[in-house]
Amino acid sequence: MKKTVMLFVLSAAIVFAGCGNSGSASDESKATADSAADGSETQSDDASVGSEALADGVLNVGTNAEFPPFEFVGDDGEPDGFDIALIKAIGEELGVAVEVENMEFNSLVASIGSKIDVAIAGMTITEERQNSVDFSDSYYEAVQYVLVPADSDIAGIADLEGKTIGAQLGTTGDFLIEDIADATASQYNKGVDAVNDLVNGRLDAVIIDKNPAMVFAEKFEGEIKAIDGADFAFEPENYAIAVPKGDEALVSIINNALATIKEDGTFDQLVSEYIEN
Ligand code: ARG
Repeated sequence: MKKTVMLFVLSAAIVFAGCGNSGSASDESKATADSAADGSETQSDDASVGSEALADGVLNVGTNAEFPPFEFVGDDGEPDGFDIALIKAIGEELGVAVEVENMEFNSLVASIGSKIDVAIAGMTITEERQNSVDFSDSYYEAVQYVLVPADSDIAGIADLEGKTIGAQLGTTGDFLIEDIADATASQYNKGVDAVNDLVNGRLDAVIIDKNPAMVFAEKFEGEIKAIDGADFAFEPENYAIAVPKGDEALVSIINNALATIKEDGTFDQLVSEYIEN
């Protein structure tokens, strides 16, 4: 979020509390000028001109660090993973600081443009989400996978009918369960909690994106197995960075940075470091 706006809201609240004045246009410009004059503002460099989100020199990024290898909580307690490294590389390219906030996946879209500037969270471009946010160019193609107990006979979409299926709340895997006849959806705030319930015999299957599915199948090897969503006729999905709706400048700034990172080999290096290792 733009710091000057936050400072204005704060100072307006302090200055005008109880005096019945909710802040006229001239109050607003004064408060903004005051906060700019205290030296705490780092003005944007050339690369960030055009998007308000970058005007304070900080890109505030929301993620849900429950989605390895794209995002997880590292040993130091901070979000790490492919997406985090990618957005930091983009920030470096743009000359802005990157601050990552770990939040619930289901809250990300609604927080873009207020609590956070953008979200990177292995987020699939969907028409529904495009009603509320815009997306950068896609940086990764994925598909939903199905995790089942190692000895399960489930092999195709008909086998999922009437089953109890887990997914992370608000994800495309969650939405797919709605289309499976007589299936009962069990929604979890974290994908790993769904996987634990599968391992404990409380679920028949879990629908989750390919790469996390493979990470979890390896973690619980011998207990669960991962099946390619193509066997269930699940469509390919494209991950992209979600930005405030209508912020075309930010979309093109991010797309340009993404293109540079792809050209100079940084992107491939991150793929081999985080995804292919
Ligand atoms: N690709 C799926 C979606 O967009 C799941 C993303 C979950 N990401 C996460 N960081 N938990 O709905």
